[in-house]
Amino acid sequence: MFPPLEGNGMIVPVDLGWFQEFFKLSSRRGEGFLFCHIGVKKMIETIETIRAAALARVAAAASSEELEALRVQYLGKKGELTAVLRGMGKLPPEERPRMGQLANQVREELEKALLEAKDTLARKEQAGRLRTEAIDVTLPGRPLPRGYRHPLYQALNEIKAIFTGLGFDVAEGPEVESDYYNFEALNLPKEHPARDMQDSFYITEDVLLRTHTSPVQVRVMEARRPEIPIRIIAPGKVYRRDDDATHSPIFHQVEGLLVDKRVTFGELKGTLMAFIKQMFGETVQVRFRPSYFPFTEPSAEVDMSCVMCGGSGCRVCSHTGWLEILGCGMVHPRVLSMSGYDPEEVSGFAFGLGVERVAMLKYGIDDLRLFYENDLRFLRQF
Ligand code: DAH
Repeated sequence: MFPPLEGNGMIVPVDLGWFQEFFKLSSRRGEGFLFCHIGVKKMIETIETIRAAALARVAAAASSEELEALRVQYLGKKGELTAVLRGMGKLPPEERPRMGQLANQVREELEKALLEAKDTLARKEQAGRLRTEAIDVTLPGRPLPRGYRHPLYQALNEIKAIFTGLGFDVAEGPEVESDYYNFEALNLPKEHPARDMQDSFYITEDVLLRTHTSPVQVRVMEARRPEIPIRIIAPGKVYRRDDDATHSPIFHQVEGLLVDKRVTFGELKGTLMAFIKQMFGETVQVRFRPSYFPFTEPSAEVDMSCVMCGGSGCRVCSHTGWLEILGCGMVHPRVLSMSGYDPEEVSGFAFGLGVERVAMLKYGIDDLRLFYENDLRFLRQF
């Protein structure tokens, strides 16, 4: 590869560093000349060794990072070939151009090899990426799983749709409620025996989780007085200290309130019959049974003919043929006046129904707990 050395050069296994040291020390010209030839020979060998090793390693490099490391190792500021070039100053001036030319030739060769290897690798890497990241656009798509509304909220939405169709607005109230709105303003003073039926979760002596949606009646009247008519339903969660097969500590109610001039029990009946028939079908029978609630007078509970047996009697209706579905009545004069309406001027009706109960009857569900267990096999049926 390199031109053979001429003159009295000898092949002596001598380290270049060692040669440089020695050259510095030698003072006699003849000696210097001899060592110079040994030095040149050695230098050529070193360059050739570097060249062969570098080219082999460049050819074998498997990544662009590896190539960069090789460039630094050989051609960098502290690289092996650079070090040889630096040692050139120690050579006699007449040898320098030939050695410089040789070293630069190797440098160029190495640079070219590095560049080509880099190119080849980049192409290989890209081809690999194209292969592994290939997408088969002819495959059918993966269907997204579809969500369903919970049956309770399906029932609730239906209830809302029927009442808004009858002209009612939807109102809301807080779930953490004061004793005043939950009981007192509904004509349930402290020590009233009817409070026993609605034991709750207390936050303080005077603050509790609401036991029913009825406090929203009071809040709406207070906020809107003296405006009439009021026609609202108030859906939401309510809480009681109950937990068994037929009672859950959290359940859902929809409250209804209508306040206007000369509202009668007949309008209450008409409204609730219209609701029940839209919800459960035209053929269903409805009856009003006298009852008691502190916030209504008179009060009634509403039954409908059993959806399971059609009224002939079965296990679901305890062989009575009837199912209780809601409570209602004419708003008690004391409730009206406490909320800022004059009972001599206006009257109203109110009702409260359990959403779980409506959903169970509508969809034929016989266990309340199914609503809360979130078993997908159950939920997917609706
Ligand atoms: N708040 C009652 C309860 O939870 C239900 C109720 C009955 C609401 C009669 C009313 C009503 O508005 O008039 O048991």
